[in-house]
Amino acid sequence: MCGIVGYVGPQQCTDILVDGLRRLEYRGYDSAGLAIYDGKKVGVVRAVGKLQNLVKALREHPLEGSLGIGHTRWATHGRPTEGNAHPHVAGDVALVHNGIIENHLELKRQLVEQGVKFSSDTDTEIVAHLVHRERQAGHDLATSLRRALALVHGAYAVAVIDAKQPDRIVVAKNASPLVIGFGDGEMFCASDIPAILPYTKRMLPLEEGEFGVLTRDGLELTTLDGKPIDRAPRTITWNASQAEKSGYKHFMLKEIHEQPRAIEDTLRGRVDLHAADVVESEIGIDANTARSIQRVYFLACGTSHHAALYGRFLVESIAKIPATTELASEFIGRDPVVGPNDLVVCVSQSGETLDTLAALRVAKEQGAKLLAIANVIDSAIPRAAGSSFYTHAGPEIGVASTKCFTTQLAAMVLLAVFIARRRDVLDKDRAQSILQALVEIPHQMRSVLSLDDNIRDLARSLAGARSALFLGRGVSYPAAVEGALKLKEISYIHAEGYAAGEMKHGPIALIDADMPVIAIMPDDKSYEKIASNVQEAKAREGRVIAVANRGNADIGAIAQSVIYTPKVDPLLSPLITTLPLQLLSYFVADFKGTDVDQPRNLAKTVTVE
Ligand code: AGP
Repeated sequence: MCGIVGYVGPQQCTDILVDGLRRLEYRGYDSAGLAIYDGKKVGVVRAVGKLQNLVKALREHPLEGSLGIGHTRWATHGRPTEGNAHPHVAGDVALVHNGIIENHLELKRQLVEQGVKFSSDTDTEIVAHLVHRERQAGHDLATSLRRALALVHGAYAVAVIDAKQPDRIVVAKNASPLVIGFGDGEMFCASDIPAILPYTKRMLPLEEGEFGVLTRDGLELTTLDGKPIDRAPRTITWNASQAEKSGYKHFMLKEIHEQPRAIEDTLRGRVDLHAADVVESEIGIDANTARSIQRVYFLACGTSHHAALYGRFLVESIAKIPATTELASEFIGRDPVVGPNDLVVCVSQSGETLDTLAALRVAKEQGAKLLAIANVIDSAIPRAAGSSFYTHAGPEIGVASTKCFTTQLAAMVLLAVFIARRRDVLDKDRAQSILQALVEIPHQMRSVLSLDDNIRDLARSLAGARSALFLGRGVSYPAAVEGALKLKEISYIHAEGYAAGEMKHGPIALIDADMPVIAIMPDDKSYEKIASNVQEAKAREGRVIAVANRGNADIGAIAQSVIYTPKVDPLLSPLITTLPLQLLSYFVADFKGTDVDQPRNLAKTVTVE
């Protein structure tokens, strides 16, 4: 997730902007830059890597002035290089952007045909050129940005300055955050409150479709099409650390609540509902590969392995190709047989996990076709694979993965539908209903996240448990094993995720009144069977907590507690049932007082075998 900061006022702003970017570091970034108006022109300095590299570059090429914008970039389109870092410049215009421009390929093609030369691979530079084109046509900066954004589909928070109108920053927001800070004779903007909290406590978070012109005198706030908006700033009472977490107690809880947005970003520009298809240029494999492969082999570790289990389920049920999922560390520990007819999909949020990288290398040596599903652009696994499909969860700070997992699940749906459509095994109507249900998932997720308080109460009663069993069948099995992993990672309660049908083959011996049994049982073809398994647990006095669909009138007779979730397409239910399990683990851990964001013995990126 990129970070934006901007300043207009009487002070020299270089330090204010760098300081603001430092306070946005928690959002994750791979390059940074500033653009400052020096009285004559806009100067730009950018650097790859940490902010100290930008500070060093600023020592060599100082920027001075009291109008400026700054940016930390989390790469989504184009590698993390200096050329791709923001601000992007076109003529006298300098622009920073957070978000994803969906129709960037089409807009870029049009601009190239008009003779525009691009100096980066980013979607953002397109917007800078669009604004510049409007400036050349004689429009003022605000009108130029409005006219440019009218052509853009996608998510954005943008801030733009221009040497020919150097008294203002013009900003706009659609689906990416931007907050305006009100100083005394000075104004600020930023992606998040902490960036500017040391300078002002009077803030106005922009809402969707809002547009602002910031000058020393204040803010002129309108809609994108120019209708005035009258809204007063509010006073922020958070301290800096609370502000970083947007008021949430932990990053993990914040990231759980960010999931609807993360899924929207991961789907953005990739789903063609009209054609009932997935956009080929976005998915990392081409139609020939999709048609020719005879097997899909998923390799991953930990939570990503659980997403891969869901991928296996979908590839078999939607794309009708044999699929296997294996722990990367086991794959390299034996003599696996894969070859040119196999598509090996390595799944990793960090893109750096050594076991997964080593497994990818083994598959590569054997001539398999490769695809990486990763969240960090240009990380080791996508680079080694050569083909990549990025999730757009944004940086995940909590060690226990949440939003990266659900965006991986969404990626699996896109991959399976893409392959299925190429092989003519999924008719248009069914593809359309799956994709339509997928784009509605963020909305359903929001309704589950609003159950927060009920789940907190349930968690209180689990905090004393020594062990817990998570059961799922079919499509819910990956959610069960992920639920168990979350609980053990952050609460240190022993938990097992089990295929419900296996319970009678061993784990049933563990069940007694002290054993919570969490059963994931949405309405699908496995429901009757898992209901029987749960009855078996209940008969042994197991304390059953069911995750079931709203409207299920029978579940109350089987389970002691029920978390009701909205009914979605049965194939997509893990995208929903996962959320209450994350919340349950989170609240149990919080009651126990563990270090939720940095649980003992765990690392976010595991680069040892
Ligand atoms: C998830 O909560 C864990 N932190 C861990 O299992 C993680 O998923 C695993 O180490 C794999 O990481 P990766 O997705 O970055 O490859």
